[in-house]
Amino acid sequence: MSLVRTNLAILGLQWGDEGKGKVVDLLSPHFHQVVRFQGGNNAGHTVVVDGQSIALHQVPSGALHPGCFLVVGNGVVLNLDVFQQELDRLKARGFDLTGRLMLSDRAHIILPHHIALDLWREGGANKIGTTGRGIGPAYEMKAGRMGVRLGDLLHPDTLAERIGHGYEEVRLRLGAGAADLPTLDAIVEGLLRTAKPLLPFIGDTQTHLVTAWERGDRILFEGAQAALLDIDHGTYPFVTSSNCSLGGLFTGTGLSPKALDKILGIAKAYTTRVGSGPFPAEMHDAIGERLRQVGKEFGTTTGRPRRCGWFDAPITAHACRTNGVDGLAIMKLDVLDGLDEVGLIVGYRTGEGTLTTKLPSCAADWKELKPEVKMFKGWASTRGVTRHGELPAEAHAYLEALVESVEVPIAYLSTGPDRQEGCIYPGTFLEPLLA
Ligand code: GDP
Ligand code: IMO
Ligand code: MG
Repeated sequence: MSLVRTNLAILGLQWGDEGKGKVVDLLSPHFHQVVRFQGGNNAGHTVVVDGQSIALHQVPSGALHPGCFLVVGNGVVLNLDVFQQELDRLKARGFDLTGRLMLSDRAHIILPHHIALDLWREGGANKIGTTGRGIGPAYEMKAGRMGVRLGDLLHPDTLAERIGHGYEEVRLRLGAGAADLPTLDAIVEGLLRTAKPLLPFIGDTQTHLVTAWERGDRILFEGAQAALLDIDHGTYPFVTSSNCSLGGLFTGTGLSPKALDKILGIAKAYTTRVGSGPFPAEMHDAIGERLRQVGKEFGTTTGRPRRCGWFDAPITAHACRTNGVDGLAIMKLDVLDGLDEVGLIVGYRTGEGTLTTKLPSCAADWKELKPEVKMFKGWASTRGVTRHGELPAEAHAYLEALVESVEVPIAYLSTGPDRQEGCIYPGTFLEPLLA
């Protein structure tokens, strides 16, 4: 095996939508395999090429590079209708994935009653602002041993029985609301119809990946969501239903931690969140609105406006610890261009006035935390900068303070949505990796 350290994880460090898709697309030409390992079509990863934007939800963001083999690991939950539509859209744009895609036979399927249950809950008092894609119920069924896996599609005779367990439970829970559900027969029929063209892609992705690793292939792991949405390490219960930090990579692929060499953490130069839940950085003023408009902070998946605020160092430091991050990719610095001042949250004041960087485990305790913001002089423009030496001095000063508070160096800086807008920092681990 090669001694060069090559396998890289791309993980979100905030509440999602940091720009993971852009980074995966940018780095993919240097990798043989690009792997999704958790989440489903709650993810929306945007790739921009020559000003044209492509949103990917379940297909790995290496799709635009014909040399990349794409893997959807066992930890993912898949909506097959949406997956097929994504393949069709890609094909129409000239990206045919035939022969370079494998879907794990152990990945779970999102079914119509999972979506119905998600929407039914979101209509009640305990709503948490999910994407409404059935993600939570699909993972619940998996943990409850009532899930349906892609491999089950290869046994059509027992499929109705397999789906029936979960279907009956959902019907009971929905009560009168269950009247709108399709019948079990209709679900089975619809699933078999949608799945037919996808059957050739189903396989044993663990063996595929172990073999690829052993022969020295370079593997890129594409996280979805982010550390603060992680079911264990995020702002529970306002989280998604998978482990979107590092641990999920191993359970979601079946690969050993020894197969991973480096971890690149992705964070915006400010903070956003879509959906409900703790968000101390949130600014309801003109600056928050400006970040939303300039940064186009509207959900890729649902179109919802994202909540916006300054960069929150304590949450990002927590995410770096949870993920063992080797280097940061700081995205969307250009969105802060033209501001008189730029803020950085370095800690929180508790109700008693004590300064802390510790994150509460209980969502209710976040309410009393007030962000402690350090202000920096703004700068005119960083848009499209490709060399770190060309950044304005004020942007340098801000980024240095950010690094100091997070205690992880920057490896990549993004200065616009397009592939070429950004720079790899000299002397960091990304340089030899991409050589
Ligand atoms: P993901 O879910 O982490 O892949 O991120 P999304 O694709 O949901 O959201 C990130 C958005 O920011 C996308 O529309 C990207 O095209 C865009 N983007 C990425 N990097 C930059 C950047 O450096 N500057 C600007 N202005 N936009 C960026
Ligand atoms: P990417 O991969 C931002 C949020 C939802 C909601 C919570 C639970 O594009 O960064 P779910 O539908 O997963 O049960 O919703 O998680 N959420 C995301 N927010 N980016 C995402 O993915 C998200 N995926 C889920 O808004 O608050
Ligand atoms: Mg997104």
